[in-house]
Amino acid sequence: MNNKITIDETAFVTAAFRAGDTGISKDHHAHLWANSSIEEHAVRYSSTVSAYEPYAHCLRNRYFYDTLVELIDHNEVEVLINFGCGFSMYPYLLNKDLIYIEIDKLDVITHKHQKISEWQEQGFLPFREIHYIEADFNMPSLEDLYHQIVPLKGNKKSFILLEGVLFFLGKEDTNRLFDLFERLQGPDEYLASVSFQPQLEKSVVFRKLIEFVESNLEKNQQFQYQTVKDGYYKNRRGYKLIDHQDTLSLSAYYDPGRVLPNEEVLNEHMYLLKRIK
Ligand SMILES: C[S@@+](CC[C@H](N)C(=O)[O-])C[C@H]1O[C@@H](n2cnc3c(N)ncnc32)[C@H](O)[C@@H]1O
Repeated sequence: MNNKITIDETAFVTAAFRAGDTGISKDHHAHLWANSSIEEHAVRYSSTVSAYEPYAHCLRNRYFYDTLVELIDHNEVEVLINFGCGFSMYPYLLNKDLIYIEIDKLDVITHKHQKISEWQEQGFLPFREIHYIEADFNMPSLEDLYHQIVPLKGNKKSFILLEGVLFFLGKEDTNRLFDLFERLQGPDEYLASVSFQPQLEKSVVFRKLIEFVESNLEKNQQFQYQTVKDGYYKNRRGYKLIDHQDTLSLSAYYDPGRVLPNEEVLNEHMYLLKRIK
């Protein structure tokens, strides 16, 4: 790996963060993706941008884990469709009866598929029904992706997850993705998304993130440091916003004794929407 990391490789860094505190993240398999070069990037990133980034990623995983467990217990989810899945390990943290659709860029999805198959064969991981799909959300059309997902999803109740991806995409790509979600889902299905609010752009910690990205990430043309207003979710056609959390609210819930210096936290927002018509 050269000194810069690609957008795809950010998935390794996220996995390394989640492995840091499995008591919070609940991702007991994240350590499988670790290697010394990734550890180096993860340490460099958190020491330059925010020391609270590993913790924030653990909280994010825990929120979606708990949300999914509860919905699955109430028979409200039969298929988890993870857009930009990276190396997240929800299939192995959740119910074996679910169908999992994992979507990411070619390098990530090929590597994930290969390693997961190896680990399943070696008995490190139990068997799960996982469908791996290669896609690039920067492409001008997602029609092909739509036609790959439809036969797998059928009429099953879905939970779509878009976690840690929107920062890397532009507005047009984002709108195209949300149009796709609307086409894929029926009433009472769930959509979860993560993004930064525009207000964060003025903060020192966000400026540190930009500086870090400028010197450490190989960007593409669509990369614009995207932030997203709450209104994008609140006014979503065909959906109702049913929960909204951020890193600070999750910390207060999962780790109530901990005092965070708010200005040093790269505060991410988690939105949970339900399809209404
Ligand atoms: C920071 S990682 C987050 C991974 C995972 N969702 C998680 O939370 O652990 C960002 C992921 O988004 C994917 N991604 C970014 N841009 C993409 C694009 N244009 N098309 C498909 N995937 C993309 C990357 O390959 C990477 O796996």
